[in-house]
Amino acid sequence: MRLPGGCASKCVVETFSRRIFGSYFHVWGRRGCNTAAFMPEAAGFGAVSHRAALQEFSVSSSGTFWAAVAQQRLSWISPFHTVQDCDLSRGKIQWFVGGKLNVSVNCLDRHVHTCPERVALIWERDEPGSEVKVTYRSLLEMTCRVGNLLRRRGVKRGDCVTIYMPPCPLAVASMLACARIGAAHNVVFAGFSAEALAERIRDAQSSTIITVNQGVRGGKVTDCPTVRQVFVAMRTENPVVMTARDVAMEEEMLKEDVVCEPAAMDSEDVLFLLYTSGSTGKPKGLVHTQAGYLLYAALTQRYVFNYHDGDVFGCVADIGWITGHSYSVYGPLANGGTTVLFESTPIYPDPGRYWEMVQRLKINQFYGAPTAIRLLLKYGDQWVHKYDRSSLKTLGSVGEPINTEAWEWYHSVVGDGRCPVVDTWWQTETGGICIAPRPSDPDAEIVPGMAMRPFFGIKPVLMDTEGEVVTFNNTTGALCIAQPWPGMARTIHNDHQRYFETYCQPYPGYFFTGDGAYRSKEGYYQITGRLDDVINVSGHRIGTAEIEDVVNQCSAVAESAVIGYSHDIKGQGVYVFVVLKKSVEIQEADLSRQLNDMVSKKIAKYACPDCIQFVQRLPKTRSGKIMRRVLRKVVECELNGLGDLSTLDDPAAVQEIIQGHHDLLSKQQPR
Ligand code: WTA
Repeated sequence: MRLPGGCASKCVVETFSRRIFGSYFHVWGRRGCNTAAFMPEAAGFGAVSHRAALQEFSVSSSGTFWAAVAQQRLSWISPFHTVQDCDLSRGKIQWFVGGKLNVSVNCLDRHVHTCPERVALIWERDEPGSEVKVTYRSLLEMTCRVGNLLRRRGVKRGDCVTIYMPPCPLAVASMLACARIGAAHNVVFAGFSAEALAERIRDAQSSTIITVNQGVRGGKVTDCPTVRQVFVAMRTENPVVMTARDVAMEEEMLKEDVVCEPAAMDSEDVLFLLYTSGSTGKPKGLVHTQAGYLLYAALTQRYVFNYHDGDVFGCVADIGWITGHSYSVYGPLANGGTTVLFESTPIYPDPGRYWEMVQRLKINQFYGAPTAIRLLLKYGDQWVHKYDRSSLKTLGSVGEPINTEAWEWYHSVVGDGRCPVVDTWWQTETGGICIAPRPSDPDAEIVPGMAMRPFFGIKPVLMDTEGEVVTFNNTTGALCIAQPWPGMARTIHNDHQRYFETYCQPYPGYFFTGDGAYRSKEGYYQITGRLDDVINVSGHRIGTAEIEDVVNQCSAVAESAVIGYSHDIKGQGVYVFVVLKKSVEIQEADLSRQLNDMVSKKIAKYACPDCIQFVQRLPKTRSGKIMRRVLRKVVECELNGLGDLSTLDDPAAVQEIIQGHHDLLSKQQPR
């Protein structure tokens, strides 16, 4: 099906049609037809006769590739005139320039025209068996009511609305309502503390908040001078104290019309901000824009997971993370799919929850995090065997490396050895999946624990320590992406300089991911972990500096250093070294409790220390820099690999730390 609207630059359009007619019928053999059946746009790409060739084409002729896909898969109000206008070396990224569209129309209206009663959302509520299904027709109505309400209450195009809600249809309708009226949304993970929420509201200069009644909402926005109004939806029956600023959301929505005129947005207008951790103490609000983000989320959702019309897509990530944005909301809805919003946890009411849900909802693609897989593996196979998982076709993993044992269990026990497991590598910054085993030929090998193959339009490169591109295989390096793609974040809200310095400056002309990777003999990629001071706890990103900032606020603490260490369930645990102030007399257990409270109050529970070691001093260089490399080796028990200690100010500090760590291990077995 070809959707209305959409027209690339003159040159691209000409090439595209010439290729369709010039080569499709003459040059392609049977395999060519398969490629076109696999991706209809391929008919216009010349002699692209197999899937690997399609990937090569998407990289070598990325303008032609993305123009065709954007025309085919998005509904435009007016066509773009330039496919891309990018210069990575300057941090300038623009796609589909001149085009106008509305993201909510792409996710809703066009499907309401063709299949209004198709289920868009399945809200898998905390209590198993109480799911709520929302059709495209009713999701559009809900979205329009919220859009009208926001407009009536003064929210304008270009404003930023903060959404602080667990996964639920109203959260999705709120995101889409923002998109409908041209406001940006800023979803804050509902597990973040009041202070973390406040920081994100302030940084985003958000004056409107949408939240739910339950929890400690009252205290959550008190010290945010930018906040003008708070829409409160009732998730439970429990009454909460409403202030003059608060608006009862459902009540007000009922007064609104179910038709809401969509704003005509430029491709490069802001769609949303999403805060994530970097290597400083301050989280950064990554900015994603309209057309490129949506297209990339949609294409990856369809091709990485082999999603087909009628399938039920089950991404269990929270909508507060990028995975929830791209694969619970935008990707599946742009494709007219049915998507699950999971409100619960993998072990509630018991460790069979996921698989009971798979059976009940007949989920076809299941997308989860390695930390949950590792946890469930420990509970044993019986929780999986109890349920019928024959609906499953693809299993996905995201957020952190998946170890071989967890991968094998996922593949053989959960998927009965039938379903491809796709270990998907990507980031908040990349907008969607960049490296994954699929798409590829249907029987192409999948190596456990490897993300393996770049997606369409993605050209990964590895850099050596000199900053040069490594051309050979069977090697490791800093993972960069050599050319822009539509899904990438465009900037950091209010801080383009930080964007430039973090992603563009380290390797000029390349996008630097912050991750290291190994490229195998066969050319497959495997992510080896972060190269900066960001750690990954249960699949959640957190900067060690953010935790240190909180720990250092404790009046008893002189200084601290936070390190990630291998943790068999969480992937990484938080290990804190603390130096107390000289005169302080405090029980270590009391202080540990205090530090835990502070981190959970100021950041979130998931960032709390797993292990706290009190030390006399930290290993430092003569210029006063903490040598984290040494601390990391100590907590990983790699004492032979401590490396060059000659620049240390006081080598005895290391011996003391090794001893302290040893004592702690024997006392509390932190791993
Ligand atoms: C890590 C989550 C290994 C990586 C979508 C990245 C992974 C960071 C994988 C982004 C994977 C994500 N294998 N590591 N398959 N997927 N990561 O922004 O370090 O929350 O840089 O996005 O998670 O985390 P973020």
